Amino acid sequence: FPPSLFANEIVRWQQSHGRNSLPWQNTRDPYRVWLSEIMLQQTQVATVLAYYDRFVQRFPTVSDLAAATQDEVMALWGGLGYYSRARNLHRCAQDVMALHAGQFPRSAEQLQTLPGIGRSTAAAIASFCFGERVAILDGNVKRVLTRALGFSGDLAQSANERALWNQATDLLPHENLAQAMPRYTQGLMDLGATICTGRQPKCLLCPVQALCRGRAEGQPEKYPVKTRK
Ligand code: ADE
Repeated sequence: FPPSLFANEIVRWQQSHGRNSLPWQNTRDPYRVWLSEIMLQQTQVATVLAYYDRFVQRFPTVSDLAAATQDEVMALWGGLGYYSRARNLHRCAQDVMALHAGQFPRSAEQLQTLPGIGRSTAAAIASFCFGERVAILDGNVKRVLTRALGFSGDLAQSANERALWNQATDLLPHENLAQAMPRYTQGLMDLGATICTGRQPKCLLCPVQALCRGRAEGQPEKYPVKTRK
């Protein structure tokens, strides 16, 4: 299917049906977007809300967070789990101060060099804050894209994972990136969370149902294909 059609449908759907009033949206402050993305990596939105608010209250800027003791950061993180995230969070804030003059880098490539920021998180920050044309590929988005594309390669194999990253990049918006990229990125996340779910996806509500290979094949649930390593 035409990539621009796919992106346009996602962008349009996000505008009317996606999540648009979470506290870390409607800001292009990379500090806030980064903080929310790290928290959201392994934790549900409903849980993150209260923690995010407390962090922003106590540490309004990356400089405040960098200056805190590790004990205080860990205490404020307490309950969110996956504590390596909190250690990396603190280290990342300190690296932004020491290596980037207190400013988050403005490209996904540079963001990825920081502790705790992988390829997908870097792309989320760069697309939300700077409108960079870069693909995210977290668990939810892998499900959406493998279904839409009918991508049957086993994602346990790195060559297939690479191929999916490349196809995800091909599908990105090409125009009006400052507006379209944040909506597109958020739209894929929202679609994966609410419509294109692991079991019993709600295909009749999906903005790309007419383009979806998995649906055309009658078995969207078989994607993504991933054997154990
Ligand atoms: N999960 C990861 N990033 C997210 C975001 N920006 N909105 C909702 N859920 C997310």
